[in-house]
Amino acid sequence: MTSEITRLFKARFHTEPLLVRSPGRVNLIGEHTDYNEGFVLPAAVDKAVYVGIDRRPDEEIHLFSADFQEKFTTSLAKVAPAAHSWSNYPLGVVDQLQKAGYPLSGFNLVLGGDVPIGAGMSSSAAVECSTIYALNELYGLGISKMDMAKMAQQAEHTFAGVQCGIMDQFASLFGKEGYAMKLDCRSLEYEYVPLEMKGIRIVLLNTNIKHSLASSEYNTRRQQCAQGVAWVQAAHPEVRSLRDVSIDLLDRYVAPKDPVVHQRCRYVIQENERLLHGCRDLQNGHIEGLGEQMFRSHEGLSKDYEVSCPELDFLVAFAKNRPEVLGARMMGGGFGGCTINLVREAAVDALIEAAGNAYKEQLGLDMTAYVAEIGIGTGRVEELKS
Ligand code: GLA
Repeated sequence: MTSEITRLFKARFHTEPLLVRSPGRVNLIGEHTDYNEGFVLPAAVDKAVYVGIDRRPDEEIHLFSADFQEKFTTSLAKVAPAAHSWSNYPLGVVDQLQKAGYPLSGFNLVLGGDVPIGAGMSSSAAVECSTIYALNELYGLGISKMDMAKMAQQAEHTFAGVQCGIMDQFASLFGKEGYAMKLDCRSLEYEYVPLEMKGIRIVLLNTNIKHSLASSEYNTRRQQCAQGVAWVQAAHPEVRSLRDVSIDLLDRYVAPKDPVVHQRCRYVIQENERLLHGCRDLQNGHIEGLGEQMFRSHEGLSKDYEVSCPELDFLVAFAKNRPEVLGARMMGGGFGGCTINLVREAAVDALIEAAGNAYKEQLGLDMTAYVAEIGIGTGRVEELKS
């Protein structure tokens, strides 16, 4: 992949690029908790976005996407969101850097990679993080990784229109081989949790579906959670987020106002509890316990938070009936993408085959699968190799 990016770069721009790699991620548990100041448990994977970059002598920005075989040209003064374009992710980051007053000049950039798009593995965060890391290296800006994560998240808000939390950008930048990361999205403190899997593999089953309401419904969920907090806050001004809200407070102040908002907020509070339990189980070597929490997480996501879809529900229900699966749930924002499954190693191939056949038979659709390898976070390609 890196040689392909270099080849494309040299063919178009005739200089040697600086190369950066930024991975996709999985999330074991803790979904839709990040923007509610809760906990998440992601890990970076071995699928990644690669960026080749070099300065230009002028103020222009020339982008080329290897995946779409498409170019996009603008200039520093004219950076703006375009309708439905892959260029929004790198340009959103440029916009953030400019707003923060970092001195940039024009540059050439080629990007490509193998993080499946729309699979809930954060291909967009990987593009944002590889771009900001590459620009930071190219211009020696000295930005910390946590600040890069925050700016990449803002880029997604302003240029992609998704009011996302910080999980994806954090996971891509901070990943470590063999570890998950327990991130407290309130304090931004994090802990590396060893993934000692004892013959269990993390398997992603991709519905290959992405329903178009994903981003609008995502923003609606965010608003519903904020509304719930506001109602509790009216009586308890010290409350800042759902992190401070108990089920009791929710029942008292939110249930009478709006049952749907109540249901959404309850999901978030319970998901944080499930994460804390599941994480403890993982640390104690009791992976079965984490698996049970994952099944419960899916129930909540599907019935209370209502961000699943029939294709995801089908694959989780299928997995639940198989003894070799310890846990399964939808992963990421929802409305399509992958399920994440904890599967006994000896049965991985059989599960993938059986799930694929059933998916085809029942829904007439093609499923794909990926056994996740947990890898390192964003970095320059030559440094990652050494
Ligand atoms: C998307 C967002 C994340 C997070 C997840 C749901 O991936 O980008 O910030 O909210 O959905 O957990």
